[in-house]
Amino acid sequence: MKFFIDSADVDAIRELNDLGMVDGVTTNPSIIMKSGRDIVEVTKEICSIVSGPVSAEVVASDAEGMIAEGRKLAEIADNIAIKVPLTWAGLKACKVLSGEGRMVNVTLCFSANQALLAAKAGATFISPFIGRLDDINLDGLELIEDIRTIYDNYGYETQILAASIRNANHVKDCAIIGADVVTAPPAVIKAMANHVLTDKGLDAFNADWAKTGQKIL
Ligand code: G3P
Repeated sequence: MKFFIDSADVDAIRELNDLGMVDGVTTNPSIIMKSGRDIVEVTKEICSIVSGPVSAEVVASDAEGMIAEGRKLAEIADNIAIKVPLTWAGLKACKVLSGEGRMVNVTLCFSANQALLAAKAGATFISPFIGRLDDINLDGLELIEDIRTIYDNYGYETQILAASIRNANHVKDCAIIGADVVTAPPAVIKAMANHVLTDKGLDAFNADWAKTGQKIL
């Protein structure tokens, strides 16, 4: 499973990248706003750190505007994935931009039908938002299962990039279902290492080791 970091915090990205935990990065207008930085400047810095796909999102609402913005964002680096929303205009932009050989990440996906359209439009990645479906008492993981089934039924190569990941269980469940990628905040990736019994066991080991009076170095 590929881990993308859903953040523009370059320090956090660098820390996890040094551990081999970063296969790509995703941003969106809200993440850019939170960063307080210029989209081109921060995206360029992220691309200098991470060799995998780095998603940068267009903000136009019409296909022509999305295409123009996408081409501009793609000039930042060779590993840019252009992010477009799952609207009819976004699908049109996806068809054109993917037809030019560019990576396209179709985002704000909330149904299997939307994901089917994105695959037919040539999307490199589809970003179904798990957490936001859960927020309204729908089943975000069920969407991942449905998309996985549909894509496997017809051999679509579009990669399922599970997004709106709120906790480590989302990552585990996406891995069981077979999502190709999860994009998660740095804190969620780090939380995957946490277990109370690991901490308890280590404390017991350390206490017993102290009783030996020994040192390794
Ligand atoms: O990549 C999409 C992600 O940033 C949305 O997450 O928690 O705002 O639903 P969230």
